[in-house]
Amino acid sequence: MTRPAIVALGVEDHHLLAHLQSQCFPDPWGPDGVARTASLSGTFGLIVRVTAAGKRVATGFTLARVVADEAELLTIGVLPAWRGQGLAGRLLGAVLTRAVALGATRMLLEVAEDNAAARALYGRRDFVIVGRRPGYYRRSPQTAIDALILRWSKPADTEFNLRTLT
Ligand SMILES: CC(C)(COP(=O)(O)OP(=O)(O)OC[C@H]1O[C@@H](n2cnc3c(N)ncnc32)[C@H](O)[C@@H]1OP(=O)(O)O)[C@@H](O)C(=O)NCCC(=O)NCCS
Repeated sequence: MTRPAIVALGVEDHHLLAHLQSQCFPDPWGPDGVARTASLSGTFGLIVRVTAAGKRVATGFTLARVVADEAELLTIGVLPAWRGQGLAGRLLGAVLTRAVALGATRMLLEVAEDNAAARALYGRRDFVIVGRRPGYYRRSPQTAIDALILRWSKPADTEFNLRTLT
């Protein structure tokens, strides 16, 4: 795998993001849902691409929204075959960087309490638990998992490392 490239999501990429999301989540939004969300003011998306066996492959995605000084991470995922190689970590760094550049001083998101991979990802970036929605994610008629609300805050005393996105 070559160095991953993280690029801004263009309008023409909505189908691509919907396709990637459908391989990462049991309840994807579909192309119309992605287009609707992406059209909300303050929303931006990123795609991570790698070159493997001479081909450029889109392997992950994220969408976030910034309103005033608050950002929300709306979705993030990496294709199953490409997990565990730091791609989501890079995407999260890029999405935080872009959100800060747009004026955000904090980012909020929701994660299922049993999503170990995602919780490790966010923990690595110093997201902290600030709330809980009991039974928010239904896994089966008998099982419901709490949603945790996590928050990242821009460090006040250090300059945030604004990395380039590509
Ligand atoms: C969550 C997800 C985006 C992580 O993608 P990834 O590219 O594999 O993540 P990374 O390789 O960047 O790893 C990030 C951290 O999580 C850890 N991690 C990855 N998979 C893990 C697992 N199954 N269990 C525990 N920790 C895990 C990694 O070790 C890494 O921590 P480290 O930097 O301290 O080593 C991916 O699993 C995914 O798309 N899941 C389905 C969609 C989803 O749940 N999205 C989040 C919704 S809130």
